[in-house]
Amino acid sequence: MDIKKVCVVGAGLMGNGIAQVCAQAGYEVTLRDIEQRFVDKGMATIRKNLERAVKKGKMVQADMDAVLDRITPTLELKEAAAGADVVVEVIIEVMDVKKALYEELSGIVSADCLFFTNTSGLSITELAAVTDRPEKFIGTHFFNPVPVMKLLEIIRGYQTSDDTLAVARQWGESLGKEVIIVEEAPAFAVNRILCPMINEAFLVLGEGVASAEDIDKGMVLGCNHPIGPLALADLVGLDTMLHVMKGLHEEMGDKYMPAPYLKKLVRAGRLGRKTGKGVYDYT
Ligand code: CAA
Ligand code: NAD
Repeated sequence: MDIKKVCVVGAGLMGNGIAQVCAQAGYEVTLRDIEQRFVDKGMATIRKNLERAVKKGKMVQADMDAVLDRITPTLELKEAAAGADVVVEVIIEVMDVKKALYEELSGIVSADCLFFTNTSGLSITELAAVTDRPEKFIGTHFFNPVPVMKLLEIIRGYQTSDDTLAVARQWGESLGKEVIIVEEAPAFAVNRILCPMINEAFLVLGEGVASAEDIDKGMVLGCNHPIGPLALADLVGLDTMLHVMKGLHEEMGDKYMPAPYLKKLVRAGRLGRKTGKGVYDYT
Protein backbone atom coordinates (compact mmCIF):
# COMPACT_ATOMS: atom_id res chain seq x y z
CA MET A 1 0.00 0.00 0.00
CA ASP A 2 1.23 3.46 -0.93
CA ILE A 3 0.53 6.16 1.68
CA LYS A 4 -0.05 9.62 0.19
CA LYS A 5 -2.44 11.35 2.53
CA VAL A 6 -2.07 11.30 6.33
CA CYS A 7 -4.83 12.55 8.62
CA VAL A 8 -3.45 13.54 12.04
CA VAL A 9 -6.14 13.83 14.72
CA GLY A 10 -5.00 15.92 17.71
CA ALA A 11 -2.79 19.02 17.21
CA GLY A 12 -1.21 19.08 20.70
CA LEU A 13 2.41 18.49 21.70
CA MET A 14 2.77 15.26 19.75
CA GLY A 15 0.20 15.77 16.99
CA ASN A 16 1.78 18.91 15.59
CA GLY A 17 5.21 17.25 15.62
CA ILE A 18 3.87 14.20 13.75
CA ALA A 19 2.11 16.45 11.21
CA GLN A 20 5.38 18.35 10.71
CA VAL A 21 7.58 15.31 10.09
CA CYS A 22 4.97 13.81 7.73
CA ALA A 23 4.77 17.03 5.70
CA GLN A 24 8.57 17.27 5.64
CA ALA A 25 8.68 13.73 4.23
CA GLY A 26 6.36 14.83 1.40
CA TYR A 27 2.99 13.48 2.59
CA GLU A 28 -0.18 15.47 2.20
CA VAL A 29 -1.40 16.11 5.77
CA THR A 30 -4.62 17.20 7.44
CA LEU A 31 -4.41 18.26 11.09
CA ARG A 32 -7.61 18.12 13.11
CA ASP A 33 -8.42 19.26 16.64
CA ILE A 34 -11.65 20.06 18.46
CA GLU A 35 -11.19 23.83 18.91
CA GLN A 36 -9.73 26.49 16.64
CA ARG A 37 -7.26 27.64 19.34
CA PHE A 38 -5.71 24.15 19.52
CA VAL A 39 -5.39 23.91 15.74
CA ASP A 40 -3.88 27.42 15.64
CA LYS A 41 -1.42 26.63 18.43
CA GLY A 42 -0.35 23.42 16.66
CA MET A 43 0.22 25.24 13.36
CA ALA A 44 2.10 28.07 15.15
CA THR A 45 4.44 25.52 16.74
CA ILE A 46 5.15 23.91 13.37
CA ARG A 47 5.85 27.30 11.83
CA LYS A 48 8.17 28.24 14.71
CA ASN A 49 10.12 24.96 14.37
CA LEU A 50 10.50 25.43 10.62
CA GLU A 51 11.52 29.09 11.00
CA ARG A 52 14.21 28.01 13.45
CA ALA A 53 15.50 25.49 10.91
CA VAL A 54 15.57 28.21 8.20
CA LYS A 55 17.40 30.65 10.51
CA LYS A 56 20.00 27.99 11.27
CA GLY A 57 20.49 27.37 7.53
CA LYS A 58 19.16 23.79 7.78
CA MET A 59 16.22 24.49 5.47
CA VAL A 60 15.53 27.02 2.71
CA GLN A 61 12.50 29.30 2.82
CA ALA A 62 10.92 27.69 -0.28
CA ASP A 63 11.01 24.26 1.41
CA MET A 64 9.48 25.69 4.57
CA ASP A 65 6.64 27.20 2.52
CA ALA A 66 6.12 23.88 0.71
CA VAL A 67 5.96 21.98 4.03
CA LEU A 68 3.36 24.41 5.40
CA ASP A 69 1.38 24.18 2.14
CA ARG A 70 1.14 20.41 2.56
CA ILE A 71 -0.62 20.75 5.95
CA THR A 72 -4.34 21.58 6.04
CA PRO A 73 -5.61 22.45 9.52
CA THR A 74 -9.30 21.81 10.19
CA LEU A 75 -11.95 21.27 12.86
CA GLU A 76 -14.01 18.93 10.66
CA LEU A 77 -13.24 15.25 11.14
CA LYS A 78 -15.02 14.26 7.91
CA GLU A 79 -13.04 16.76 5.89
CA ALA A 80 -9.78 15.76 7.60
CA ALA A 81 -10.29 12.04 7.04
CA ALA A 82 -11.65 12.23 3.47
CA GLY A 83 -9.33 10.30 1.15
CA ALA A 84 -6.82 9.58 3.92
CA ASP A 85 -4.68 6.44 3.54
CA VAL A 86 -3.93 6.51 7.24
CA VAL A 87 -5.33 8.24 10.32
CA VAL A 88 -2.76 8.90 13.03
CA GLU A 89 -4.63 9.39 16.29
CA VAL A 90 -2.83 11.68 18.73
CA ILE A 91 -5.54 12.78 21.17
CA ILE A 92 -5.52 12.67 24.97
CA GLU A 93 -4.49 9.45 26.72
CA VAL A 94 -7.98 8.41 27.83
CA MET A 95 -9.34 5.06 26.65
CA ASP A 96 -13.01 6.08 26.35
CA VAL A 97 -12.22 9.31 24.50
CA LYS A 98 -10.02 7.44 22.04
CA LYS A 99 -12.66 4.70 21.57
CA ALA A 100 -15.36 7.31 20.81
CA LEU A 101 -13.12 8.81 18.13
CA TYR A 102 -12.44 5.41 16.52
CA GLU A 103 -16.14 4.58 16.48
CA GLU A 104 -16.82 7.87 14.71
CA LEU A 105 -13.92 7.35 12.29
CA SER A 106 -14.97 3.85 11.28
CA GLY A 107 -18.04 5.28 9.54
CA ILE A 108 -16.12 8.05 7.79
CA VAL A 109 -12.89 6.74 6.29
CA SER A 110 -12.43 4.55 3.21
CA ALA A 111 -12.36 0.76 3.62
CA ASP A 112 -8.58 0.66 3.00
CA CYS A 113 -7.62 3.35 5.49
CA LEU A 114 -5.23 2.26 8.26
CA PHE A 115 -5.45 3.41 11.88
CA PHE A 116 -2.22 4.29 13.71
CA THR A 117 -2.40 5.31 17.39
CA ASN A 118 0.26 7.28 19.25
CA THR A 119 -0.96 6.09 22.64
CA SER A 120 1.76 6.02 25.32
CA GLY A 121 0.61 2.74 26.78
CA LEU A 122 -3.07 1.86 26.31
CA SER A 123 -4.00 -1.52 24.88
CA ILE A 124 -3.78 -1.52 21.08
CA THR A 125 -5.96 -4.64 21.01
CA GLU A 126 -8.72 -2.98 23.04
CA LEU A 127 -8.71 0.18 20.90
CA ALA A 128 -8.65 -1.85 17.67
CA ALA A 129 -11.61 -3.95 18.79
CA VAL A 130 -14.03 -1.00 18.64
CA THR A 131 -13.21 -0.37 14.98
CA ASP A 132 -14.48 -2.16 11.88
CA ARG A 133 -10.85 -3.02 10.92
CA PRO A 134 -8.78 -4.40 13.82
CA GLU A 135 -6.32 -5.97 11.37
CA LYS A 136 -5.57 -2.51 9.97
CA PHE A 137 -4.85 -1.05 13.41
CA ILE A 138 -1.39 -0.63 14.99
CA GLY A 139 0.49 1.41 17.62
CA THR A 140 3.01 3.93 16.27
CA HIS A 141 4.56 5.49 19.36
CA PHE A 142 6.63 8.62 18.69
CA PHE A 143 8.82 10.39 21.24
CA ASN A 144 8.80 14.00 22.33
CA PRO A 145 9.91 16.29 20.67
CA VAL A 146 8.91 14.38 17.52
CA PRO A 147 11.08 16.29 15.01
CA VAL A 148 14.17 15.59 17.17
CA MET A 149 13.75 12.11 18.64
CA LYS A 150 14.90 9.29 16.36
CA LEU A 151 12.77 6.45 17.72
CA LEU A 152 9.46 5.05 16.52
CA GLU A 153 8.21 2.20 18.71
CA ILE A 154 5.72 0.08 16.74
CA ILE A 155 3.30 -2.09 18.69
CA ARG A 156 1.18 -4.86 17.22
CA GLY A 157 -2.27 -5.53 18.58
CA TYR A 158 -3.69 -9.06 18.79
CA GLN A 159 -5.38 -8.76 15.39
CA THR A 160 -2.87 -6.51 13.56
CA SER A 161 -1.97 -7.99 10.16
CA ASP A 162 1.55 -8.46 8.80
CA ASP A 163 0.67 -6.09 5.95
CA THR A 164 -0.26 -3.31 8.38
CA LEU A 165 2.99 -3.82 10.27
CA ALA A 166 4.98 -3.68 7.02
CA VAL A 167 3.28 -0.43 5.92
CA ALA A 168 3.75 1.18 9.36
CA ARG A 169 7.43 0.27 9.40
CA GLN A 170 8.02 1.62 5.89
CA TRP A 171 6.15 4.84 6.74
CA GLY A 172 8.17 5.30 9.95
CA GLU A 173 11.43 4.84 8.07
CA SER A 174 10.28 7.29 5.39
CA LEU A 175 9.98 9.88 8.20
CA GLY A 176 13.63 9.27 9.09
CA LYS A 177 12.86 7.30 12.26
CA GLU A 178 14.58 4.20 13.60
CA VAL A 179 11.96 1.55 14.25
CA ILE A 180 11.68 -0.99 17.05
CA ILE A 181 8.89 -3.56 17.09
CA VAL A 182 7.45 -4.60 20.42
CA GLU A 183 4.65 -6.86 21.57
CA GLU A 184 1.66 -5.31 23.23
CA ALA A 185 2.10 -4.92 27.00
CA PRO A 186 1.11 -2.12 29.39
CA ALA A 187 3.16 0.96 28.36
CA PHE A 188 4.99 -1.23 25.80
CA ALA A 189 8.79 -1.40 26.23
CA VAL A 190 10.21 2.12 26.54
CA ASN A 191 7.55 3.75 28.75
CA ARG A 192 7.38 0.64 30.93
CA ILE A 193 10.96 1.48 31.91
CA LEU A 194 10.98 5.28 31.60
CA CYS A 195 7.71 6.26 33.33
CA PRO A 196 8.31 4.35 36.61
CA MET A 197 11.73 6.04 36.75
CA ILE A 198 10.08 9.45 36.40
CA ASN A 199 7.39 8.44 38.93
CA GLU A 200 10.17 7.47 41.36
CA ALA A 201 11.61 10.97 41.00
CA PHE A 202 8.22 12.37 42.13
CA LEU A 203 8.30 10.01 45.14
CA VAL A 204 11.82 11.16 46.03
CA LEU A 205 10.71 14.80 45.68
CA GLY A 206 7.49 14.27 47.67
CA GLU A 207 9.38 12.53 50.49
CA GLY A 208 11.71 15.54 50.78
CA VAL A 209 14.81 13.49 49.99
CA ALA A 210 16.16 16.18 47.66
CA SER A 211 15.02 19.33 45.85
CA ALA A 212 13.70 19.14 42.29
CA GLU A 213 16.83 20.91 41.04
CA ASP A 214 19.13 18.47 42.82
CA ILE A 215 17.19 15.38 41.69
CA ASP A 216 17.47 16.55 38.08
CA LYS A 217 21.11 17.62 38.48
CA GLY A 218 21.85 14.20 39.98
CA MET A 219 20.39 12.31 37.04
CA VAL A 220 21.98 14.61 34.43
CA LEU A 221 25.47 14.63 35.91
CA GLY A 222 25.39 11.22 37.56
CA CYS A 223 23.70 9.21 34.83
CA ASN A 224 24.31 11.31 31.70
CA HIS A 225 20.60 11.81 31.00
CA PRO A 226 20.08 14.81 28.64
CA ILE A 227 17.63 16.39 31.10
CA GLY A 228 16.50 15.34 34.59
CA PRO A 229 13.37 13.20 35.14
CA LEU A 230 11.32 16.07 36.60
CA ALA A 231 12.20 18.41 33.74
CA LEU A 232 11.33 15.55 31.38
CA ALA A 233 7.94 15.12 33.08
CA ASP A 234 7.33 18.83 32.47
CA LEU A 235 8.22 18.30 28.78
CA VAL A 236 5.94 15.26 28.43
CA GLY A 237 3.00 16.79 30.37
CA LEU A 238 2.17 15.71 33.92
CA ASP A 239 -1.38 14.73 32.90
CA THR A 240 0.00 12.32 30.30
CA MET A 241 2.53 10.98 32.83
CA LEU A 242 -0.27 10.36 35.32
CA HIS A 243 -2.44 8.62 32.70
CA VAL A 244 0.44 6.27 31.89
CA MET A 245 1.12 5.49 35.56
CA LYS A 246 -2.59 4.90 36.23
CA GLY A 247 -2.66 2.45 33.33
CA LEU A 248 0.44 0.62 34.58
CA HIS A 249 -0.96 0.53 38.11
CA GLU A 250 -4.28 -0.89 36.94
CA GLU A 251 -2.66 -3.55 34.77
CA MET A 252 0.46 -4.41 36.76
CA GLY A 253 -0.28 -3.76 40.44
CA ASP A 254 0.88 -1.57 43.31
CA LYS A 255 4.54 -1.42 42.31
CA TYR A 256 3.39 1.12 39.70
CA MET A 257 1.18 3.28 41.96
CA PRO A 258 1.30 6.95 40.80
CA ALA A 259 3.30 9.19 43.15
CA PRO A 260 1.04 11.38 45.34
CA TYR A 261 3.07 14.48 44.45
CA LEU A 262 2.52 13.87 40.72
CA LYS A 263 -1.22 13.60 41.38
CA LYS A 264 -1.17 16.77 43.46
CA LEU A 265 0.47 18.83 40.72
CA VAL A 266 -2.02 17.56 38.13
CA ARG A 267 -4.90 18.43 40.47
CA ALA A 268 -3.44 21.93 40.78
CA GLY A 269 -3.48 22.27 36.99
CA ARG A 270 0.32 22.35 36.85
CA LEU A 271 0.68 20.16 33.76
CA GLY A 272 4.21 21.18 32.78
CA ARG A 273 5.59 23.33 29.99
CA LYS A 274 2.31 23.26 28.06
CA THR A 275 0.49 25.15 30.85
CA GLY A 276 3.48 27.27 31.86
CA LYS A 277 3.94 25.57 35.24
CA GLY A 278 4.65 22.02 36.33
CA VAL A 279 7.41 20.97 38.69
CA TYR A 280 9.14 24.14 37.47
CA ASP A 281 7.76 27.56 36.59
CA TYR A 282 8.23 28.56 32.93
CA THR A 283 6.22 31.79 33.00
N1 CAA B 1 10.57 20.81 18.80
C1 CAA B 1 11.40 20.74 17.76
N2 CAA B 1 12.74 20.82 17.87
C2 CAA B 1 13.25 21.02 19.08
C3 CAA B 1 12.44 21.10 20.23
C4 CAA B 1 11.05 21.00 20.05
N3 CAA B 1 10.19 21.06 21.07
N4 CAA B 1 13.24 21.29 21.31
C5 CAA B 1 14.50 21.29 20.86
N5 CAA B 1 14.52 21.14 19.52
C6 CAA B 1 15.69 21.05 18.65
C7 CAA B 1 16.48 22.33 18.63
O1 CAA B 1 16.02 23.20 17.61
C8 CAA B 1 17.89 21.85 18.32
O2 CAA B 1 17.97 21.58 16.94
P1 CAA B 1 19.37 21.66 16.14
O3 CAA B 1 20.24 20.57 16.70
O4 CAA B 1 18.96 21.41 14.73
O5 CAA B 1 19.93 23.00 16.38
C9 CAA B 1 17.94 20.50 19.05
O6 CAA B 1 16.59 20.09 19.21
C10 CAA B 1 18.61 20.62 20.42
O7 CAA B 1 17.90 21.61 21.15
P2 CAA B 1 18.52 22.60 22.22
O8 CAA B 1 19.98 22.80 21.91
O9 CAA B 1 17.66 23.81 22.32
O10 CAA B 1 18.28 21.86 23.57
P3 CAA B 1 18.88 20.53 24.14
O11 CAA B 1 20.23 20.23 23.60
O12 CAA B 1 18.66 20.65 25.59
O13 CAA B 1 17.89 19.41 23.57
C11 CAA B 1 16.06 17.98 23.88
C12 CAA B 1 16.53 19.43 23.79
C13 CAA B 1 16.33 17.28 22.55
C14 CAA B 1 14.57 18.02 24.14
C15 CAA B 1 16.85 17.27 25.04
O14 CAA B 1 16.65 17.98 26.21
C16 CAA B 1 16.43 15.84 25.23
O15 CAA B 1 16.83 14.94 24.53
N6 CAA B 1 15.57 15.61 26.27
C17 CAA B 1 15.03 14.28 26.53
C18 CAA B 1 13.89 13.98 25.58
C19 CAA B 1 13.21 12.68 25.87
O16 CAA B 1 13.64 11.86 26.67
N7 CAA B 1 12.07 12.46 25.19
C20 CAA B 1 11.26 11.29 25.40
C21 CAA B 1 10.10 11.67 26.27
S1 CAA B 1 9.09 10.28 26.66
C22 CAA B 1 8.07 10.13 25.36
O17 CAA B 1 8.06 10.91 24.45
C23 CAA B 1 7.14 8.96 25.35
C24 CAA B 1 5.85 9.10 26.04
O18 CAA B 1 4.92 8.37 25.64
C25 CAA B 1 5.62 9.97 27.21
P1 NAD C 1 -1.82 17.17 24.33
O1 NAD C 1 -2.67 17.36 25.52
O2 NAD C 1 -0.69 18.12 24.08
O3 NAD C 1 -2.71 17.19 23.00
C1 NAD C 1 -3.86 16.41 22.85
C2 NAD C 1 -4.76 17.14 21.86
O4 NAD C 1 -5.84 16.27 21.51
C3 NAD C 1 -5.37 18.41 22.43
O5 NAD C 1 -5.07 19.51 21.58
C4 NAD C 1 -6.88 18.12 22.46
O6 NAD C 1 -7.69 19.25 22.19
C5 NAD C 1 -6.97 17.11 21.33
N1 NAD C 1 -8.19 16.31 21.33
C6 NAD C 1 -8.84 15.74 22.37
N2 NAD C 1 -9.91 15.04 21.92
C7 NAD C 1 -9.90 15.15 20.57
C8 NAD C 1 -10.72 14.65 19.53
N3 NAD C 1 -11.78 13.89 19.78
N4 NAD C 1 -10.41 14.97 18.25
C9 NAD C 1 -9.34 15.74 17.98
N5 NAD C 1 -8.51 16.24 18.92
C10 NAD C 1 -8.80 15.95 20.20
O7 NAD C 1 -1.30 15.67 24.39
P2 NAD C 1 -0.02 15.01 23.71
O8 NAD C 1 1.11 15.11 24.64
O9 NAD C 1 0.10 15.51 22.31
O10 NAD C 1 -0.48 13.48 23.72
C11 NAD C 1 -1.29 12.94 22.69
C12 NAD C 1 -1.13 11.44 22.67
O11 NAD C 1 0.25 11.11 22.45
C13 NAD C 1 -1.52 10.75 23.98
O12 NAD C 1 -2.06 9.49 23.68
C14 NAD C 1 -0.17 10.62 24.69
O13 NAD C 1 -0.16 9.59 25.63
C15 NAD C 1 0.74 10.31 23.52
N6 NAD C 1 2.16 10.61 23.71
C16 NAD C 1 2.55 11.72 24.39
C17 NAD C 1 3.90 11.99 24.54
C18 NAD C 1 4.39 13.21 25.26
O14 NAD C 1 5.59 13.29 25.54
N7 NAD C 1 3.56 14.16 25.57
C19 NAD C 1 4.85 11.13 23.97
C20 NAD C 1 4.41 10.00 23.26
C21 NAD C 1 3.06 9.75 23.15
